[in-house]
Amino acid sequence: MISKKMSESLNTQMNLELFSAHLYLVMSSCANEMGLKGAANWFFVQYREEIIHFMKFYTYLTDQGVVISMPAGKDVPNKYKSLLDMIQKTLGHEQIITSCINDLSEQAVKEKDHATQIFLQWFVTEQIEEENNDRDLIAKLKLVGDNGHGILMIDGEMGQRLFVPPVGSPLAV
Ligand code: FEO
Repeated sequence: MISKKMSESLNTQMNLELFSAHLYLVMSSCANEMGLKGAANWFFVQYREEIIHFMKFYTYLTDQGVVISMPAGKDVPNKYKSLLDMIQKTLGHEQIITSCINDLSEQAVKEKDHATQIFLQWFVTEQIEEENNDRDLIAKLKLVGDNGHGILMIDGEMGQRLFVPPVGSPLAV
């Protein structure tokens, strides 16, 4: 059993995870349009991971007997100057998510909601990896600057990324 306040906060985060999925799906198509097939793959994998995050919240809430709500989503941006621009905006977005997860964790501690604290642990760890991946890419992209050959090399690396569903996660796609 979770409190109404906690369920509302988790429902908000669930919708934010879905927004993240849509954000990266649009970025995937933008990268494709730029001729960067590897980056398009990277963002598509990111999209699939966010769907898993969304489903984790959905499953947790429904397992707790909560009926979810899904208010209309906000518009997803679809204009980017470059791959670096997209990854910088990805990092900025993930930092907001990290802050939201931290707020949720604090709320769970205040409410002595142990089940939700345990549930959120996975996300706390996941956010470290998410931000780290973005920082690595930003550093590499800054190194190569406008050099097309360098960008294509990074694009090739991004094309190697595989979608690996976390063990025990609900498979949404
Ligand atoms: Fe679901 Fe990228 O955090």
